[in-house]
Amino acid sequence: MKKICPSILSADFAKLKEEIKDVEKAGADIIHCDIMDGHFVPNISFGSKIVADVNKITDLPLDVHLMIDNSEYFIDEFFKAGADFISVHYENNFHLNRVITRIKSLGIKAGVVLNPATPVSMLTEIIEYADFILIMSVNPGFGGQKFITNSVAKIRDLKKLITEGSYNCLIEIDGGVDTGNIKELSDAGADMFVCGSSIFNSGNRSETIRKMKEIVS
Ligand code: DX5
Ligand code: ZN
Repeated sequence: MKKICPSILSADFAKLKEEIKDVEKAGADIIHCDIMDGHFVPNISFGSKIVADVNKITDLPLDVHLMIDNSEYFIDEFFKAGADFISVHYENNFHLNRVITRIKSLGIKAGVVLNPATPVSMLTEIIEYADFILIMSVNPGFGGQKFITNSVAKIRDLKKLITEGSYNCLIEIDGGVDTGNIKELSDAGADMFVCGSSIFNSGNRSETIRKMKEIVS
């Protein structure tokens, strides 16, 4: 089953509990948490304390996307905060195999993230260890950016790599995903759809999520 994953980066942090309950009621499958450090990406978001507090108020799985340097030092902290999925970037993890192996040893799902300019071919030596690959379809750092269209071809390439190697690996897409492009992304092979502004800024969140689920089912 394909999953809709609202990113709370686009929520109103002053009423985060209501915002999460709202998308939960609307049919969200997973809550996506964007962690930014102001070094790897030019923005600062929130840390493990917020993730732990979010974990107390929802039963939905938490998908933690680390856009931080030295992510290997923070894996245990986010695991303790309640992460069910943790993804780290290919671009700033020198010991990617070690980090992915560590995440998996905790019994949660481990993902590798590719920036828009990083080709799928970089995954050949790590894909068999990853539970999921996150394709960034915007440059990481901010919600509400324009979708980068060659991401569709990247998903197709990745799907081919996974199918040919019979890997047990899901495909997640993040950035500029909305009701207009979700079909194309789903058809290309995406399994998990991160949506920030297209859900939180939509006039009718339940209707938006319902429509997205109908399109990808
Ligand atoms: C961007 C984040 C995304 C962001 C997506 O760096 O990784 O998860 O919240 O927001 P939208 O869906 O608005 O592009
Ligand atoms: Zn994200």
